[in-house]
Amino acid sequence: MAQNMKAARLINLLRSSRNLALLALSPFDYLSRVLNDKTDLPPLHLRRYVGPLQSFESSGAEFMSYLRLIADLQPEERVFDIGCGCGQMALHLKDYLNEKGGYVGADIHRASIKWCQKKLSSRWRNFQFAHIDVRNLAYNPRGIHHAEAYRFPYEDHSFDLILLKSVFTHMRPPEVDNYLGEIARLLKSKGRCVATFFLLNEEQAMLARDGRNSLRFEHGEGAWRYVHEHSPESAAAYDESYVMESLAQHGLALKEPIYYGRWSGRSNGLSYQDVLLLEKITQA
Ligand SMILES: C[S@@+](CC[C@H](N)C(=O)[O-])C[C@H]1O[C@@H](n2cnc3c(N)ncnc32)[C@H](O)[C@@H]1O
Repeated sequence: MAQNMKAARLINLLRSSRNLALLALSPFDYLSRVLNDKTDLPPLHLRRYVGPLQSFESSGAEFMSYLRLIADLQPEERVFDIGCGCGQMALHLKDYLNEKGGYVGADIHRASIKWCQKKLSSRWRNFQFAHIDVRNLAYNPRGIHHAEAYRFPYEDHSFDLILLKSVFTHMRPPEVDNYLGEIARLLKSKGRCVATFFLLNEEQAMLARDGRNSLRFEHGEGAWRYVHEHSPESAAAYDESYVMESLAQHGLALKEPIYYGRWSGRSNGLSYQDVLLLEKITQA
């Protein structure tokens, strides 16, 4: 654990240095956004925080299609985006959800949430953002709440659709388990959840043996594996059977077969990560 704390400190130091460099470049980024009519995008350092810069816009558009085509999201529905970052999905959903619908985004990164509140909630009143001070060694090492026991401050059955895009891939097993329980609690009876994972199973293992996985989950044991020995939260994968058991324990199930991703080397992968469409199991 001490080594993990050291690694977390190092990662955060590197991230802070990267942030400073990106802040220095932000006037150029702003100019380029003005010239390209993209001033509604978050600043450079916030976009980089959630992933590669070149795919910020395309990844949002890609998942917007999944929400509509796979999860059948309707304009009057209520969406909860857990780990929403700097509003990548909100920027798309604001043009789709109508005034009867609504959106709540929650994240542990205070600066991203502040930007979303200032730029998005002020113009789209049915879009709300909440900073949750939950601890994650890679993203928020000083957070005061523990994800394995965190209860989101919303009533049961509040949402039609819950999204976790590239969030379970940064969490530990007890944390994933608790969040799945929260998802089951927060979903309405016909609600759906779109969540991405890196799933470990036989086909993926075979592809790994052929050197086709683009990430090497070589550390850890039991239900999960991770890429970086001293920073599990940087990229974590789960045994598919563990995820299925945890879903069942919380009254959730796959609504459709898993859409496996390209990370594992599958040539027909839908997205990069594995995409799961979940629903609540209704009692007969
Ligand atoms: C790879 S980014 C993805 C962000 C966003 N979903 C997207 O696709 O642009 C992972 C996000 O999860 C957030 N995160 C990590 N652990 C979390 C937790 N326990 N609860 C909520 N958000 C978390 C991070 O702050 C970060 O914004």
